[in-house]
Amino acid sequence: MLWPDTTSRTDSGILTIGGCALTDLAATFGTPLYIFDEATLVHRAEHVTAAFSGRYPNSHVAYGGKAYLGPAVIRIFARAGIGLDVVSGGELWAALKAGINPATIVMHGNNKPAAELRMALEQGVGLIVVDNAEEIASLEAIAADLYGQGPLIGTKVPVAIRLNPGVDVHTHAKISTGIVDSKFGFPLWDPSAQVAVGMIAASNHLSLQGLHMHLGSQLDEYNSLPEAIEHQVAFAAWIRDTHHIDITTYSPGGGLAIAYTEAETEGDPDEWAEVIISAYTSAWSKHNLAPGTIVVEPGRWLVGPAAVALYTVGSVKRIEGVRTYVAVDGGMADNIRPGMYDARYTATIASRHGSEPTEEVRIAGRFCESGDVLIQEITLPAMVPGDLLAIPAAGAYQLPMGSNYNAMPRPAVVMVHDGQAT
Ligand code: LLP
Repeated sequence: MLWPDTTSRTDSGILTIGGCALTDLAATFGTPLYIFDEATLVHRAEHVTAAFSGRYPNSHVAYGGKAYLGPAVIRIFARAGIGLDVVSGGELWAALKAGINPATIVMHGNNKPAAELRMALEQGVGLIVVDNAEEIASLEAIAADLYGQGPLIGTKVPVAIRLNPGVDVHTHAKISTGIVDSKFGFPLWDPSAQVAVGMIAASNHLSLQGLHMHLGSQLDEYNSLPEAIEHQVAFAAWIRDTHHIDITTYSPGGGLAIAYTEAETEGDPDEWAEVIISAYTSAWSKHNLAPGTIVVEPGRWLVGPAAVALYTVGSVKRIEGVRTYVAVDGGMADNIRPGMYDARYTATIASRHGSEPTEEVRIAGRFCESGDVLIQEITLPAMVPGDLLAIPAAGAYQLPMGSNYNAMPRPAVVMVHDGQAT
């Protein structure tokens, strides 16, 4: 679904979401404006959790919060029983401020500063996913300091190891993470992952509970998952045989794709769950391991299609024989994805949704860069200054990757529900 699946309607040509006409929202809050649909968020949260728990009750969804960490959004997910994956002390701070239970939080990051690891321990984060040997040493030292004496003496930090299984996936190179040439995780094809297990096994304050990996984002097929899961489970069997430690938590990460244009189809949580659960089940049985907890970390799929970015057209420049530039009042500072990943988007005119497209244009932003383009080429009804342009699938990795380039303020964000905007 491109537009927020649950509540998008067209009312005499005006696009409405969550019972709110986009024209009214623009008049009240100004543009650029990011509009999240509460019903769509709830619906998607329920869909993913049901896809996993319906097939395998011992599964757990942790939202990849880097996709968008709005407090109201993560509270909706928490109410649906979804945990949270954070990658920094800043994200952890935001989650705690939103009232998220720290025990449901997983801490990631390929280079976590000691101060942030300490914060995670002091706040009682549920699981720390270690990414390199230096981090294990640093975590051990912090844990020794906190739990070597005093009232919490003997407390052990629950730890998972991020593995790099070295499998190729079909996605943009900048969002592919489980390939051999990656900064993330302990390579499984050399001794470094085994050394990491040895370090944790020898520690007095760390408890090895899980294995983690993340192959990449916006994965358009699941073919690599069973192979990578088999590598992960085989490693759990090695850990059992060598160190007599039982791994209880297994994660294949996130990566479920969404559609950004009519030409794309979004990933199906049921199909994804089926592939993941059957791969784990058969690998556990092959290696004679007890079934564990499966933790999946979808980010983009949960939030992307739940939001729309709304802009006002400021100028329409027709360069005879070349092209027409339609400039809007946002751009690369609220959406760097076209510039960074050649991401494609579609758009509609919010007050004339569904009217006949007649003119091929380029949608440019207002930032001082030629590369500040939101859509390279799109055919839309002829536009005039003051038209409202709505871009769907705007909920993931846009605002969190935003900037204040050109000293431009950040867009407002509203949540819509039953005709109310908050
Ligand atoms: N888990 C881990 C460990 C991750 O690194 C990520 C994303 C996720 C889960 C969630 O992945 P998702 O389900 O959202 O694909 N800025 C890029 C995407 C970067 C993804 C980073 N890691 C973009 O705009 O496409």
